[in-house]
Amino acid sequence: MKLQHLLSVVALTISAAKGQSATAGLTTWEQIHQTLNTYPLAVDFKNAALFPHVFAPNAVANYTGALSNMTGIEAITQGLLASVSSLITQHQLGTTTIDISVPGAKGGDPDDKTGRTANATTYFTAALFSSAPETPGAYTILFGLYSDELVETDVTDGPSPWRIVKRQLVFMTPTLGNLTLG
Ligand SMILES: *[C@@H]1O[C@H](CO)[C@@H](O)[C@H](O)[C@H]1NC(C)=O
Ligand SMILES: *[C@@H]1O[C@H](CO)[C@@H](O)[C@H](O)[C@H]1NC(C)=O
Ligand SMILES: *[C@@H]1O[C@H](CO)[C@@H](O)[C@H](O)[C@H]1NC(C)=O
Ligand SMILES: *[C@@H]1O[C@H](CO)[C@@H](O)[C@H](O)[C@H]1NC(C)=O
Repeated sequence: MKLQHLLSVVALTISAAKGQSATAGLTTWEQIHQTLNTYPLAVDFKNAALFPHVFAPNAVANYTGALSNMTGIEAITQGLLASVSSLITQHQLGTTTIDISVPGAKGGDPDDKTGRTANATTYFTAALFSSAPETPGAYTILFGLYSDELVETDVTDGPSPWRIVKRQLVFMTPTLGNLTLG
């Protein structure tokens, strides 16, 4: 893919993330889906500005190993961007279930959207290729899922007010390839 095209994809993503109109008409499920699907763009394009559209400021994330206790948006952004700094990556999301709590359904005000929470399970396939000169051609493909807890925030300047507050990465199968991840 040409660099110019990659850059225009990133520019589109950022303008979509900033545009108020992007929210119009999305259901709650679609808003959460949008949040979940912004993650691959953030990490694959190494775009720190997109992480706050995915994770809440106080989020915690466990990607196991050296990244098993990332606490707060800064630690998550820095930890994940450092982990892909010498890699070219593509994260592909698949099977998705989203479970939304609706306070109104339990006798509260159905129009009161504050305090809603959701849980999501999303399969991923991550293809990681080394861009380090010491390991030309090395790659690995990882298969797993993200188990997420999300909250609805009052953020209005983007396609979704939902943010991940807790993420647990679970590997589901052995990995492919010959790249050893530090
Ligand atoms: C992170 O996840 C791993 C694998 O499930 C678990 O063994 C570990 O205790 C977790 N660490 C934290 C800090 O939650
Ligand atoms: C995870 O990090 C937080 C904040 O740095 C710390 O308070 C907590 O003790 C750590 N948990 C583990 C299991 O290391
Ligand atoms: C999400 O999972 C947590 C932990 O298992 C649970 O306490 C909570 O009720 C779940 N929320 C929803 C909306 O399913
Ligand atoms: C990894 O495998 C690729 C494809 O077979 C090969 O080109 C490359 O030399 C291997 N790299 C290492 C570091 O083993």
